[in-house]
Amino acid sequence: MFTVLLICGGLVAFYLLLYVTVLRLPKCQSTTKLHGKTVIVTGANTGIGKATALDLAKRGARVILACRDESRAQAAVTDIQRESGNKEVLYMHLDLASLKSVRSFAENFLKKESRLDILISNAGLVMGGKTEDGFGRIFGVNHLGHFLLTVLLLERLKECGPSRVVTVSSNAHSWGTIDFNCINTHKDLGLGNSTVALIKLYNNSKLCNVLFTHELAKRLKGTNVTCYSVHPGGIKTEISRHVNLWWRLFAVPLLMLFFSDVESGAQTSLYCALQEGIEPLSGRYFSRCAVQNVSAKAKDDTVAKKLWEVSERLVGLA
Ligand SMILES: NC(=O)c1ccc[n+]([C@@H]2O[C@H](COP(=O)([O-])OP(=O)(O)OC[C@H]3O[C@@H](n4cnc5c(N)ncnc54)[C@H](OP(=O)(O)O)[C@@H]3O)[C@@H](O)[C@H]2O)c1
Ligand SMILES: *[C@@H]1O[C@H](CO)[C@@H](O)[C@H](O)[C@H]1NC(C)=O
Ligand SMILES: *[C@@H]1O[C@H](CO)[C@@H](O)[C@H](O)[C@H]1NC(C)=O
Ligand SMILES: *[C@@H]1O[C@H](CO)[C@@H](O)[C@H](O)[C@H]1NC(C)=O
Ligand SMILES: *[C@@H]1O[C@H](CO)[C@@H](O)[C@H](O)[C@H]1NC(C)=O
Repeated sequence: MFTVLLICGGLVAFYLLLYVTVLRLPKCQSTTKLHGKTVIVTGANTGIGKATALDLAKRGARVILACRDESRAQAAVTDIQRESGNKEVLYMHLDLASLKSVRSFAENFLKKESRLDILISNAGLVMGGKTEDGFGRIFGVNHLGHFLLTVLLLERLKECGPSRVVTVSSNAHSWGTIDFNCINTHKDLGLGNSTVALIKLYNNSKLCNVLFTHELAKRLKGTNVTCYSVHPGGIKTEISRHVNLWWRLFAVPLLMLFFSDVESGAQTSLYCALQEGIEPLSGRYFSRCAVQNVSAKAKDDTVAKKLWEVSERLVGLA
């Protein structure tokens, strides 16, 4: 009996220690207000994106929710308007799994809106299949769609500088690899439909996010636009909704114990969007509201440049 109590006590104490040291995520301390500024958040109808959009709305920004599903997006608009008291929250249709949709979003946005101060490329998924243009869906949505979106909006960001581009990656990027042969022959970052294969594709796409940001920063030298990639933390969201049921059953208890809420998950994106003085860190990777060192492969100049050029070709810009 006593031993059982001791073990339970030990486990609780260990969990609390873990909670205060690792699990509890720091908050973005910036008090920056955004009245008169316009921001875009992709995938803002749920999860980390919605929490990010809500915080930006509370700061007075005009917030564009760039989402693919109208009814889910309108529901989020209503929630965010109500909770923030800010009426300048609106939905614009964007399906990152279609380059045509990315182009018409950009065209529509540039026509209707006069400013762009912050772009947060947050949407992401783990799901098999192909995009409208025949790319692997994970590669197409997590990387290529956001690549084209960013490039099409760069001029407006430059005009509105100081402005920022935040791309939500993941610490999973450190398991990623980029195989250009596979991209060339299969329009994808790898092969296979199993859950393990899809997670591998996800990891690879998140490495693309970090390398994209690395190269973008170089191309933005001398402008007033800076960019950052982010790991939001392990966050309880709908990200695993398309993954096989057994994986989800396995994941739920872990999520409950070790994953944080969406508000915590938004903090590093907010930090990179708002924190004063981080401009010299443009191109770097952030987690826990702080810049982090990445491995050599996540800041490889040659691979980052090649990925940019290949992406330009794939989306029809070059
Ligand atoms: N949760 C974590 O622990 C974690 C950890 C590391 C990194 N991340 C990253 O955090 C970001 C946000 O993920 P989350 O956890 O908040 O996931 P989530 O709850 O599943 O939200 C993902 C969002 O992306 C949108 N989306 C998916 N495909 C899209 C498309 N083709 N076009 C436009 N939007 C699309 C979804 O829209 P629908 O609702 O219409 O599907 C949804 O709004 C992702 O980039 C993810 O990789 C999350
Ligand atoms: C993908 O990244 C996760 C960490 O998020 C890691 O546990 C897993 O082993 C990686 N998978 C592959 C195939 O690289
Ligand atoms: C993956 O699944 C799709 C259907 O969802 C199928 O067309 C394709 O051939 C599969 N690919 C592999 C490599 O198994
Ligand atoms: C950057 O912003 C500063 C201050 O707002 C301005 O003086 C400068 O001209 C801008 N530079 C460019 C390249 O737009
Ligand atoms: C990151 O690397 C730099 C130089 O390589 C080093 O000075 C710094 O302490 C490292 N930071 C962390 C958090 O490991």
